[in-house]
Amino acid sequence: MPDENGIIHYTQEEDQTWQILYDRQIKLLEGLACNEYFAGLIKLDMPTDRVPQPLEISKKLKQLTRWQVEPVPALISFGKFFELLANCKFPAASFIRRREDLDYLKEPDIFHEVFGHCPLLTDPNFAKFTQKVGEVGLGLSREDRALLARLYWFTVEFGLIRQKDGDLKIYGAGIISSKSESVYSLRSDIPQRLEFDIIEVLRTGYRYDELQKVYFIINSFEEMYNILNQNYETAFAKAKELGLKEEAKPNDILVGC
Ligand code: CO
Repeated sequence: MPDENGIIHYTQEEDQTWQILYDRQIKLLEGLACNEYFAGLIKLDMPTDRVPQPLEISKKLKQLTRWQVEPVPALISFGKFFELLANCKFPAASFIRRREDLDYLKEPDIFHEVFGHCPLLTDPNFAKFTQKVGEVGLGLSREDRALLARLYWFTVEFGLIRQKDGDLKIYGAGIISSKSESVYSLRSDIPQRLEFDIIEVLRTGYRYDELQKVYFIINSFEEMYNILNQNYETAFAKAKELGLKEEAKPNDILVGC
């Protein structure tokens, strides 16, 4: 956790872990991640050879889209989660994975949070969408918050985007920060890649402990924001009326990421 000046003290080994993860993933993402992600990465100009400080990332984000990074314990309640998003504060775990967990980690760590999530928060439409998720979440019942968590999962965490030239790319942070899923999500024949349909998204259960079986494709962050902003009440009512597409999985929860 941060000291009284907001600084988190990472060890040399932890800084090296960041460097290994960053170097490996940046090479892998070429041709896979969306243009908006790379544009955000340039704007943030985060260090590559040490763990970035949430404060330095917040300083840049604040200037661009008024967002900031809020260090939190690994698990927080839905209520706290949506409240932070509504206030343009991105809840972020601050620990970094151990060397033996380099390839896969169940809980989000700072590599996932900062490398995966923060670049897109520099995009005005993506930032607006994320804030809107928070605002909508604050006004929902417990049952409806579970549906909203699915929307968050299939967009902010595991979304795909069709770029203007027609190419399919990754924007979800769960994919961006994953060595295996960044390739699998676009190249594998196993998962379904469906056009984004908010009602279908709200009706689709997910697992956080395995590669996804379905991804949803949006055409732009502006479109994604407009769909949520204009239609969410009708969409929630319709999704509840139709019910879950598959039986609800016990781990259909949001793990603070
Ligand atoms: Co996340």
